[in-house]
Amino acid sequence: MANAAAAFVLEVGKEAIRTKGRFCIALSGGMTPATLYRALTSPPVADRFDWAQTTFFFSDERCVPPDDPRSNYALAQKALFDPLNIAPAQIYRMAGESKDPLAAATEYEQQIRLATNTLSTAPPSLDLILLGLGEDGHTASLFPGASILQDHQRAIAATQSPKDPANRITMTLAAINRANVILFLVAGAGKAGVVRAILDPKTEADRRLPASLVRPEVGRLMWFLDRAAAAELQIQY
Ligand code: 6PG
Repeated sequence: MANAAAAFVLEVGKEAIRTKGRFCIALSGGMTPATLYRALTSPPVADRFDWAQTTFFFSDERCVPPDDPRSNYALAQKALFDPLNIAPAQIYRMAGESKDPLAAATEYEQQIRLATNTLSTAPPSLDLILLGLGEDGHTASLFPGASILQDHQRAIAATQSPKDPANRITMTLAAINRANVILFLVAGAGKAGVVRAILDPKTEADRRLPASLVRPEVGRLMWFLDRAAAAELQIQY
């Protein structure tokens, strides 16, 4: 799964660089991206891509310092940016260490708008947004029943998580659904039930899960699953 996702990321990246001279990608949190980062930094793959034309953002962050092991930035720094020698100027991280997450969210929204030349009237549109999936159907830091799921104004917001750490900064559905490509990367038997609920919904509750509300306005939605995560799907492979 990680190798297939890595090849797909490079394909999207090459097309963005060919057509716009730059590739804007948002990285997700959690541990599953570590498999993708390993695939992207392995020499045959890493050498096939012009990383200097890539700008990195984050789809969410935990409100912890950037060197905290729970930090999504910390994982990306160690497993992706360092191995690929990504310059700090190419990285837009969310200030998880901020004592005022709301101000940090507003600040990040301004940064991402500036970096993508996006006017204030529309959410920024990135080339690719990487997302994970929680067993409760959350994605980024958009948790079931959270009022932020109805926020169609802001692109970046501060929110609460039932999982530690509680304070989070996250992209909203408005920003996520503006992307050209949204890539869900989901692995493990623990996710099989929620994957079925989202990709083959049976109830209104299935359709209201945060990850079910990820529907690109014009872009492409891709799911990369391992066999264990796909185990409850009625698909032949
Ligand atoms: C976060 C994530 C979150 C994550 C899922 C899956 O910061 O926690 O953005 O949405 O992607 O919880 O996490 P795992 O990949 O660790 O299962």
